Amino acid sequence: MNPTVQELVAALTLEEKAGLCSGADFWHTKAVARLGIPAIKVSDGPHGLRTQREGSTDPNDSIEAVCFPAGCAAAASFDPALTRRMGAALGREARANGVQILLGPAVNIKRSPLCGRNFEYYSEDPYLAGELAAGFINGVQSEGVGTSIKHFAANDQETRRLSVNSRVDERTLQEIYLPAFETAVKKARPWTVMCSYNRLNGAYASENKPLLTDILRGAWGFDGFVMSDWGAVNDRVKGIAAGLELEMPGSQGVNDRRLIDAVRSGALDEAVLDRAVTRILNIVLLAADLAQRPAAFDRAAHHRLAAELAAQSGVLLRNLGALPLHRGQKVVYIGAYADRPRYQGGGSSHVNTTAVSALDAALLHDRMVQYVEGFPADRDQRDETEFLRAVTAAEAADVAVIFAGLPDSFESEGGDRRHMRLPDCQNNLIARVAAVQKNTVVVLHTGAPVECPWADDVSSVLCMYLAGEGVGEAEDALLWGDADPCGRLPETWPLRLEDTPCYLDFPGDGVTADYREGVYVGYRWYDARRMPVRWPFGHGLSYTGYVYRNAVLSADTLAEQGLVTVQVTVKNSGAMQGAEVVQLYVADATGTPVAGGRVPQVLRGFQKIALQPGEEQVVTFTLTPRDLSHYDAALHDWYAAPGRYEIRIGHSSRDIRVTLPLHYAGTRLPPLQVDETTPLGILLADPRTAPVVQHALRAETAAMTNGGGDGLMPPEAMAQMFDALTLRNMINFGGPQAEEKLTKLLETLQDAIK
Ligand code: BGC
Repeated sequence: MNPTVQELVAALTLEEKAGLCSGADFWHTKAVARLGIPAIKVSDGPHGLRTQREGSTDPNDSIEAVCFPAGCAAAASFDPALTRRMGAALGREARANGVQILLGPAVNIKRSPLCGRNFEYYSEDPYLAGELAAGFINGVQSEGVGTSIKHFAANDQETRRLSVNSRVDERTLQEIYLPAFETAVKKARPWTVMCSYNRLNGAYASENKPLLTDILRGAWGFDGFVMSDWGAVNDRVKGIAAGLELEMPGSQGVNDRRLIDAVRSGALDEAVLDRAVTRILNIVLLAADLAQRPAAFDRAAHHRLAAELAAQSGVLLRNLGALPLHRGQKVVYIGAYADRPRYQGGGSSHVNTTAVSALDAALLHDRMVQYVEGFPADRDQRDETEFLRAVTAAEAADVAVIFAGLPDSFESEGGDRRHMRLPDCQNNLIARVAAVQKNTVVVLHTGAPVECPWADDVSSVLCMYLAGEGVGEAEDALLWGDADPCGRLPETWPLRLEDTPCYLDFPGDGVTADYREGVYVGYRWYDARRMPVRWPFGHGLSYTGYVYRNAVLSADTLAEQGLVTVQVTVKNSGAMQGAEVVQLYVADATGTPVAGGRVPQVLRGFQKIALQPGEEQVVTFTLTPRDLSHYDAALHDWYAAPGRYEIRIGHSSRDIRVTLPLHYAGTRLPPLQVDETTPLGILLADPRTAPVVQHALRAETAAMTNGGGDGLMPPEAMAQMFDALTLRNMINFGGPQAEEKLTKLLETLQDAIK
């Protein structure tokens, strides 16, 4: 019989235990041969395996592997079943290559489109990111390989990422930056979580006890281990006590020694070290056991899957009719990305592979297309001869398709963008082509939104994001109508950088990043300000059409512990097979004040359904009170006020097709604190205190209004004046015994809110 983890921990020396809490090298944990404890191997990354070649001494010398769509593109599929399939494929590749933990998914929230690593992340919306991450993790782990969901937490910029202090209030953290992790932990039980480099509210994530222990384990029930991002450890002893189990890649023994010394001096309870070792060994033994299973994968099948996922992720942003292309049309492809597409980003997620280009795919399918480079793929360089060739060819063609995008140097791990523009040469050529060719199509290869000053002048825009090695095949299918575009935007595309929620605070002053926009991230911000955007969250066109009807709720009222179901019938009303993403948003129409602001609507459900022409399907969503809630920092809990909510169902956040009213019959009232400075407006709006105050008011009104009731002020102004008065003011005007009256009134009010 093999020893249990408990027995192993008891048999380990202090030195061995400290050693197990850090990596042996860049990618391995340590083995303890005398006790039969194996080492396990971890490798990047979120959309392809980047694992060091056996025998190589260069950590960046990685084997060839399949590059699937990066997070930005995979998220546009709006399909957790798809991220699950992608995860399972990655799990198979990992296992076949001796990797036990895959370092992904990456779920940080897209606070600003400028974040250099947005291409790896999923969304500006935590619900979408969480569901996609859960699918991915379940997929990888179904193959007996672990995951490391990253980077925990509030790591939303690359500028000074190793030290920046993300200052985020409690509600914003709970409502925006944590739920993707929470959903993934609860729905998919990742084996590990990777803490981020940055500080969060003053404490490094790697030694942040509220984050790593109270929230992750206490509130969400995480039962794996936490590893550091590579080199993220600040104070190792503090870190282990806070809940950071494994330091990666290790510090050549320096931090192990610190742990040993701390135990010996009594600064660190040995039980804390034992607990960390136990958590690590639970996973190491499980991983080593599962690694025994036979492993193989079919490279060609995985490439086909990568192309299929890319096709499912392409977003048709605009189409006045130039797409789909038809055989017999004279088509010119312009731009170097037609030949050398950008399909992945730079940094730790970079996969060693080659991609199929749109030109390769056109050749394969016998498409008659002419090609003019027009502009280069790797820099902003304008060559007038090339420009003229492109414009002339475009003018002579029936359709011009421009393959545009961001060069690697514009967008990568390690740095943020400084602006949101494409290279000038590309904007320039697009404008010139559009001036001579009404059927101009732009295909975008970017990891994040770019400003599109030419958007109204071209016929069609297809966004591929960074779609992985199958990008060309996917483009070919989407452009030529062999597949219907069914991707949707997982983030808002703003008109200009200056419109973005954290424009004034991103990336901060180099020391602190103040998340002053609070919960107003992404569409929550643009909707609250009723701001025009280039393309809204959830947007994506199709070559077919969808009709929504018969939307119903299972009940008009939702009880405090209850649930309601929402059903809607969706029909493919066009002539082509396609897939619709049915989106459900909840709007709080109670009118109850919300500390930190009420966001106009929040995504609480989505489902992607494939429909043949004429086919219809009933889509069902389930809602619970949590879906109506915001996070209340005074309660330290989720809270929904009783009253009226709107359930909005539609094609995008700005294309709502049906709105259903729902009454929430919650009995819990929001927390209320009363003292002598509380304004009457608050007390009169609350059913607990209103009767008490109304009673007191009747006695005091004449004195307080200073005769205003006799026409001195318009009634609206009077009402506002009342609203602003505090209890203290009310009594101040009240003549003798004021102090006494105030004390009594406060007592009655305290009783009323108990
Ligand atoms: C990145 C992680 C990555 C790790 C290992 C770090 O620089 O932030 O996402 O998993 O390196 O390559």
